[in-house]
Amino acid sequence: MENLIMSVPRDFILGAASSAWQTEGWSGKKETQDSYIDLWYKNNKHVWHNGYGPAVATDYYNRYREDAALMKEIGLTHYRTSINWSRFLTDYENGNVDEEYAAYVDSMINELIQQGVEPMICLEHYELPAVLLETYGGWGSKHVVELFVKYAEKVFERYGERVKHWFTFNEPIVVQTRVYLDAIRYPFEQNTRKWMQWNFNKSLATAKVVQLFKEKGYKEKYGSKIGVILNPEVTYARSSAKHDQDAARIYDLFFYRVFMDPSIKGEYPAELLELMEKHDIVFEAADSELEIIKENTVDYVGLNLYFPHRVKARTTAWNEEVPFHPAFYYEMFELPGRKMNPFRGWEIYPQIMLDMALRMRDEYGNIEWFIAENGMGVENEFNYKNEQKMIQDDYRIEFISEHLKWLLKGIEEGSNCSGYMLWAFTDNVSPMNAFKNRYGLVEIDLDENRNRRMKKSAYWYQELIKKREISV
Ligand code: BG6
Repeated sequence: MENLIMSVPRDFILGAASSAWQTEGWSGKKETQDSYIDLWYKNNKHVWHNGYGPAVATDYYNRYREDAALMKEIGLTHYRTSINWSRFLTDYENGNVDEEYAAYVDSMINELIQQGVEPMICLEHYELPAVLLETYGGWGSKHVVELFVKYAEKVFERYGERVKHWFTFNEPIVVQTRVYLDAIRYPFEQNTRKWMQWNFNKSLATAKVVQLFKEKGYKEKYGSKIGVILNPEVTYARSSAKHDQDAARIYDLFFYRVFMDPSIKGEYPAELLELMEKHDIVFEAADSELEIIKENTVDYVGLNLYFPHRVKARTTAWNEEVPFHPAFYYEMFELPGRKMNPFRGWEIYPQIMLDMALRMRDEYGNIEWFIAENGMGVENEFNYKNEQKMIQDDYRIEFISEHLKWLLKGIEEGSNCSGYMLWAFTDNVSPMNAFKNRYGLVEIDLDENRNRRMKKSAYWYQELIKKREISV
């Protein structure tokens, strides 16, 4: 695939993503409206890189007009963000809307549309209201599922006519994996049973919101779609030996199929359920709830894909005193000679796009999907500025083109992929890493009033969107 020009299909989405809490900042937020992330930040500021967190973020709440104009300048066809559940309501039980925040969302959506940028809206990007974590144990509670559906209904009522792309969650597996499997995030408690209950309840919440969306007829009335944004961990076994293959298959069950299967096929893989039973991971799933999941699968999925996961069978004994963790079955494996992102510690393996595309085509009924996040996090990026202060991020341009080329190959092979959303539109705070890893097409200058400055990659992306072709 050397020295070739590949065309990007006309209707292929070329956009960028972010989320509410990673950009908005706390302007206008009430003390009672903390999200899970806000609570974590308030209690553990010291673990957040340089103390940066959601408090100011990129100040998008006040600067969304400026940002929408920049999106237009770059030519983004779509922009994904979320609505902050914890801020959208003043009373989560009764669903009373915070009119000030709702007016901001209203105006922000209008601004995007006016600038020719199609909004894609996610209902939860880790913005679970803190009080629901403290009072009910968060996503471990079926009551929280009901409250989420109520919240979704209010959001659809306000913006359902204008927004055509809806998603229930961003990476629904992540919070509970970091908290209940790895115990590295607030409130730091290893508990695999809770991990699975959160997984199940989020799949149930997705199905119930899909059901509501169907009942309200949004698809028929406005031509809109509803899906979920997942981060399937594309897994490669160290070797073709049976023990490595088994380890990879089990890893895939826990970190790929656990959300992909119920979302798209409406049911869990039987082998995953058997493993849960074997290890006494009992979670509450009523037959009627499984039926709802079966009947209400998503219209499409967004997939966040950054790097491959390589595993091998365990070579060291499992410490029996530790509660069950899927790592009972595997160890991570580093491919010798692999290409690395030297900043983020993630392997760079663009062919992952093609492998993903083929799995979607062959294992998930060729459902519509798109890349909802992919990008390159770089530390100390200000070191790469030229005399005009523009960041010369050629590494990012190379990263994007390599990944796009393999994605386009997947489309040529018949995969139903409708777009590519770069993470991220601007640099933003992320959990713990805060502004450490810079991902944006647009720099946020923290020393100069959070000024926005397009990086070299933004001009390159602009050309790509205009010409719709990429040289590989
Ligand atoms: C994604 C999340 O998985 O990773 C984003 O959806 C996050 O919210 C992004 O910002 C990058 O994370 P990090 O830790 O490299 O800054």
